[in-house]
Amino acid sequence: MGRRVLITGGAGFIGSHTCLVLLEQGYELIVLDNFDNSSPEALHRVQELAGSKQLAVVKGDVRNPDDLDRAFQTVDQVDGVIHFAGLKAVGESVAEPLRYWDVNVNGSRVLAAAMERHDCRTIVFSSTSTAYGEPETFPLREDMATAPVHPYAQTKVAVEQLLTALCSSGPWRVATLRYFNPVGAHPSGRIGEDPLGIPNNLFPFITQVAAGRRERLNVFGQDYPTPDGTGIRDYLHVMDLADAHGVALEHLWEQEPPYPLTLNIGTGRGLSVLEVVKGFEASTGISIPYDVVERRAGDVPRLEACPQKAKEILGWSPRRGLAEMCRDGWTWQQANPMGYRGGT
Ligand code: NAD
Ligand code: UD1
Repeated sequence: MGRRVLITGGAGFIGSHTCLVLLEQGYELIVLDNFDNSSPEALHRVQELAGSKQLAVVKGDVRNPDDLDRAFQTVDQVDGVIHFAGLKAVGESVAEPLRYWDVNVNGSRVLAAAMERHDCRTIVFSSTSTAYGEPETFPLREDMATAPVHPYAQTKVAVEQLLTALCSSGPWRVATLRYFNPVGAHPSGRIGEDPLGIPNNLFPFITQVAAGRRERLNVFGQDYPTPDGTGIRDYLHVMDLADAHGVALEHLWEQEPPYPLTLNIGTGRGLSVLEVVKGFEASTGISIPYDVVERRAGDVPRLEACPQKAKEILGWSPRRGLAEMCRDGWTWQQANPMGYRGGT
């Protein structure tokens, strides 16, 4: 029998792709999700893609101990947790800091307490490259100081600190993954990113322009200190990010402490907004009209990972490039013009 893994937020963008990868690797999964920012349809499609593999779904809130107990009691013993559940919109976090601290920090605290109750102390946590704040030296290494500049990133750093304290307090095994910019979709086009309303992020916005759902892309600033003046980010294929979770869990089960293990998950190759636009046009043949507008508040010029530690410790490196990110994201958009809300 495969290891049993509880996945909080497993119906979301990164969670659904990770569920599929882990099911295909023979894990038995329990997803806890309140569908606050996702649809049960994502999990139906994961089931369908994975065939008859093991996936239990518990609708519940990570802040509710009873919901967590129900999820843990689905199996005799949960062997590890991947904690995706949380809120991730920077602007919203500035407007609603209490909600972000409640869901992201309190939710993680309640989850950790449930893990202790159910004798499971192995966890992979979703952190973020925005934990580094506005860095000036590149590429970003995990031993550089965190300096979060908005409530979203501050909640992620707070949870990192909680997990570090737990490792000092007992036999916890923790991997904190600092994701850079996951994009794209499963190549089947059955699961993908499904933002509600106007997309905040670059990639879904570009695919919606390509599909004719939006007229033009707004490029937020061309006066950054970068070669073409537009912001640089380290984009990685969501399937590569999903793979990283499987190898991180294996590492936690096999390797003795010390923990936590903190790892950047990115490619190390930053791309500007205009490079992404050109890459999308080249791989799909569709032109993306754009206007250069003011900078977006809170944006930093550049974020780029040093991915060396993940390679050395986990043997993980991204395998897919920009062309696959664009192709797969576009396949998903074409097949699901209105996301999951359009039905199957
Ligand atoms: P997502 O919003 O698609 O997925 C999050 C999932 O958590 C959703 O299914 C949502 O319904 C669920 N959820 C939210 N609050 C919950 C609660 N209180 N109880 C139970 N479930 C709850 O986001 P994503 O892009 O898949 O991100 C997953 C994680 O990775 C998040 O913690 C996010 O902060 C982090 N992260 C994402 C990115 C990114 O670019 N997408 C980058 C860095 C870090
Ligand atoms: C954003 C969040 C980050 C979060 C991530 C995933 C901000 C400041 N940061 O990251 O914390 O983890 O999303 O939810 O919100 N761009 C445009 N036009 C657009 C959209 C984006 O030019 O319509 C530019 C941005 O200025 C940036 C780049 O594209 O330079 C990437 O933006 P985005 O996809 O939103 O990612 P981040 O800002 O890195």
